[in-house]
Formats: sequence, structure tokens, C-alpha cells
Amino acid sequence: MKKILVTFILISMLAPCSFAQKKDTKAVLNNIHQRKSVRTYSDKKVSDEVVTELLKAAMAAPTGMNVQPWYFVVLRDTSQYDRIFESNGNMRMFKESSVVIVLCADTTVTRSPRNNPNAPAVTTPNAIWRDDMGACTENLLLAAEAYGLGACWTACYPFPDRMNSIKKHLNLPANVVPYSVVPIGYPRLDEKPKDKWKPEKVHYGRW
Ligand SMILES: Cc1cc2nc3c(=O)[nH]c(=O)nc-3n(C[C@H](O)[C@H](O)[C@H](O)COP(=O)(O)O)c2cc1C
Repeated sequence: MKKILVTFILISMLAPCSFAQKKDTKAVLNNIHQRKSVRTYSDKKVSDEVVTELLKAAMAAPTGMNVQPWYFVVLRDTSQYDRIFESNGNMRMFKESSVVIVLCADTTVTRSPRNNPNAPAVTTPNAIWRDDMGACTENLLLAAEAYGLGACWTACYPFPDRMNSIKKHLNLPANVVPYSVVPIGYPRLDEKPKDKWKPEKVHYGRW
């Protein structure tokens, strides 16, 4: 009897942890699968507090050697958009959204040589900043989805026509490039995610 009682107490102590774990997993995966590009937005404003939370999520992304090459320019003043996004095909989306975030990257990295940590820091090109920025952009999109917001990754790098006017009008330093532009707002329509699961794309062991 005592044994049964002890087992019951142990199970009831552990059960809430495992249930909580399962619930979080489901919520996180559901958020990933629900994310979609949303290109039409209502008039409702995305608060500055929520924007900060989105930026925190973006900055939580992994980066090669933890370089964190990102910078963000947060835009709300649509009257500037004709200049900043001159001839950018996504203009309607930008103007309709509540906030546009321009994700920028420092393409250089400054640090001491790896074989001599005491030597003065040197600045060299960062070969993998694009990978870092891709992860950063996706984190931002996933956080937007979690807040019930609509967002769309729009290309900037490596297209000179999109990059040049942004660089000029946002006053970016020479070593900083605009990588992606993400308009964000509350969705106007009920857009659905696409099902992209294709088991035939997966090879096990070898191709
Ligand atoms: C690198 C990249 C660039 C993109 N550029 C644009 C763009 O300029 N304009 C746009 O409307 N969508 C753009 N998209 C969004 C894609 O069209 C969208 O992710 C794709 O159609 C899949 O749809 P989903 O995001 O709803 O899953 C871009 C996405 C990526 C990853």
C-alpha cells in the first residue's frame, strides 16, 4: 500500500512538468507552421512595446561565432517611404503596414586574431553575415506570428536598386548593408499558411 502511495505521489509530481513540456512544444511548432507571408494589414497600430518584443526575438537568433552583426531601423513615417523605398515593388505593403523594420548587417567583424587574443583587434570581412541575417529575419517573422500579427520578408540584399535608396536615405555607414525589409501590421484578411511538407525531399543515410 505504502509503495503504491509513493508511486502515485511521484507520478503526480512529475506529470505537470511533462504536460507543460508537451503543451509548449505544441504551441511552438504550431506557431512555426502557422507563419505565412501576410501582405495586407488593417489600420490597427502595432504598439511600440510589441515592436520591442519583436526586436528582442530577432536578436535572439544564432550567429556564427556569436558576432550578432545586425542593426535595425524602425520606420513609421509613411511620408518618407517614397524616398527610402524608391521604385521598390513592395511599396503598397510598406505603406499599408503599421511599422516597417529594415534589418541591416555590419558586413565586417572586428576582433583579436584567434591565435593571439592579446593582439590588437583587426577588422576583416565577415563571410557569413547573410546566414546570420536570415536567421534573424525568420525569428522576427515567428515572433510577429506569435503576436497574431501579419508580416512579410521582402528582399533587399543583394539588389542594388532596393539597397541604394535605403542606404542613402537612412544614412547607413559604409560597412552596413540593408539585408531585408519587413512590413508588419494586424492582418486584414484571414490568410492561411502553405503546407510545404514533402517527404520525398528527405534522404536518410545518403542521397
Ligand atoms: C529572401 C526572401 C525574399 C523575399 N522577398 C519578397 C518580396 O520582395 N516581396 C514579397 O511579397 N515577398 C517576398 N518574400 C516572401 C516569399 O514570397 C514567401 O515567403 C513565399 O512565397 C512562401 O510563402 P510563405 O512565406 O507564406 O510561406 C521573400 C521571402 C524570402 C525568404
